[in-house]
This record gives sequence, C-alpha cells and structure tokens, in this order.
Amino acid sequence: MKDVYILAVETSCDETSLAIVKNGKEVIGLEVYTQMDTHALYGGVVPEIASRMHTEAITLVLESLLNKTKFDLKNIDAIAVTYAPGLMGGLLVGIEFAKTLSFIYKKPLIKVNHMVGHIYANNIEDNLEFPLLAMVVSGGHTELVEMTGDYKFKLLGSTLDDAIGEAYDKVARVMNVPYPGGPNVEKLAKDGNVCYELGKPVNDDSFNFSYSGLKSSVINLVHNMNQRNEEININDLAASFQYYAVDEITRKIDLALSKNEYKMVVLAGGVSANMYLREEVKKVTDKYNVRLCVPRMLYCTDNAAMIGAAAYPLFIQGKNIADFSLNAKSHISTVE
Ligand code: KG4
Ligand code: ZN
Repeated sequence: MKDVYILAVETSCDETSLAIVKNGKEVIGLEVYTQMDTHALYGGVVPEIASRMHTEAITLVLESLLNKTKFDLKNIDAIAVTYAPGLMGGLLVGIEFAKTLSFIYKKPLIKVNHMVGHIYANNIEDNLEFPLLAMVVSGGHTELVEMTGDYKFKLLGSTLDDAIGEAYDKVARVMNVPYPGGPNVEKLAKDGNVCYELGKPVNDDSFNFSYSGLKSSVINLVHNMNQRNEEININDLAASFQYYAVDEITRKIDLALSKNEYKMVVLAGGVSANMYLREEVKKVTDKYNVRLCVPRMLYCTDNAAMIGAAAYPLFIQGKNIADFSLNAKSHISTVE
C-alpha cells in the first residue's frame, strides 16, 4: 500500500505544534512551540494570550518544520487538526490554518479529538493491541475507556466533577506552588511523606472518579492551618494529595482488570507524565500480568505527532473528513 503522509496541527491549549507523520507511526518531523513561560507570569493559561501567540507562531512553526524535514507539502496526503476539546480561540487558529492548507494543496481535512490523540500517542513507538483499557488523565479529563479496535470506544467511567490535572493545578495554587502546578506538585511530593489525612474520594464500585472533595480538603487544611498560624510541610502535603489522587486511578484500573481481560493498559494525557502515577499503575498491571504502555515524555504532553497518529486510521477508514464549515468545540469526551 502507498505510504500516507499526514500534516498534523495542534493548538488546543498553550503549545503550537505541527508534525508530519508517515503511516500513523513514523514521525518525520515534530515542532512544539510552548508558551509556558509567558503563562507562568500569570499563574495559569490566559486564553486570550494563548490564541494571539498561536496566531503569531504558527506560520513560523510550519517554516521550521519544513526547513528541518525538507518535506515538500505537495507530497502530503491529508491535513489533520485538533478541533476539540480545548480553548476555543486556540483551536480556531489551528482549524483556520489547517483549512487554508487543505484548500491550497487540495487535500482532505481530518478532524481529530485531542483526547483520542493522547491515546494514539501510544501507537507511535509501540502498537495498540485490542481490547485495551485507556486511562485518560489530563487537565480537563479523567476517563476510563475501553477500546476493542481502532475508534471503537466504550466509556466505562469519568469524573463526576474535577479532572485529576485540574485538581493538581488548583491544589498547587492554594499551596503557592508556581505554574505549571502538576509537575511542580510532583517534584515537591518526592521529598514528602504521606501524613496528612485528606478527604477520600467516593469508594464505590463504579468506574467514576471524583476530585473536588480531595481538592476541597487540601484547600480547607491550608486555610485552617494558616488561621492557626501553624506551619504546613509543603512536601508532605504534596505527597499526601498525590497519594490520594493516584490511589483513585489505580483502584479503578484494578477494578476494570478484575472484571475484563485486556491485552494492554495505556496511559494518555498530560498527567501521564507523572512518574509516581506510572509506577503505581505499573504495580496494578503487573498484578494482572497485563502490559502497560506509556508514551515517551515528548508524546505525553501536547504535541501534533499524536494528532497525526490518531488521524491515520480515520484517513484509512474515510472517517471524520471535514469541510470548510468545521468549527471548534471546547468540551467533548474521548468517546465522542
Ligand atoms: O494533556 P494536557 O497537556 O492538556 C490537557 O489536554 O488538559 O494536560 C495538562 C495537565 C495539567 O493539568 C498539568 O498540571 C498536568 O497535565 N500535568 C501533570 C504533570 N505534568 C502535567 N500533573 C501531574 N504530574 C505531572 N508530572
Ligand atoms: Zn492534552
């Protein structure tokens, strides 16, 4: 079969990223321009600034990608773009850019769900084997998804309130930990002990998650201790929060593995960069003798290579082909 080259565009949050991916697996080139330093000045991503920065950067990112790869865009087979979920302004910059390229080069435009992209990041250097269990953990999503084939999803459960990454970020704020909250809380936790009693999430037999109780108990603890002028051990608090946050994930994966047979478990989304989470999940998959797959760090955080990887089966199946009326959506589930 003829090789398929896809140019992928990702602008859903604070990374302007473009990639050329061959046959959904071989990353010919990947550029990631991160705006993190700018948003760090404000303690979090400022949507208006993010979309303006995407607009300023995107053509330069394409130029850099083409210079490095020496790829002639005439040889591209399709343009893939993240259309949801994410920040509307950022998504629209990527979508209009992709539409323009699709119009100029007369190539199909493929719309890709960002969260599905995170799952397919696991197919770049490894192979997805079905049926699999995907644990999607990011700033906006905590979803346990079963996949029986390419784009054959079943949502087992999701968060009833906050996402795990969101909890990391909010807890970081109340602890005065600088942005980005998640990675910094992880760093602090490394030198801490689990000694603070925090609100346990609902311990039921469903596949649903909940993080607002845990988040609130950290916020209340910090406020109460501040009022009493008591010193908080920030490392211990980070370690305690992380313990409860990850325990929720491992318990639900354990429950799913006890009920069904899977060929593999994959971690997907920004929070899968967390080493403690990876280690704890590995203990569970080892217990059931199931293979665990986690993308390399570069493919864990937002990047366009995963969008190219996720677009390939769509291109082959002729699915998700969009026209120039394509619009962005801020909130959708992995399985939509
Ligand atoms: O997937 P992602 O880059 O963007 C979304 O699609 O949301 O995930 C970003 C989220 C943020 O909440 C960030 O704090 C969290 O992932 N995150 C982490 C770590 N690295 C990123 N959370 C915990 N530990 C980390 N090492
Ligand atoms: Zn993401």
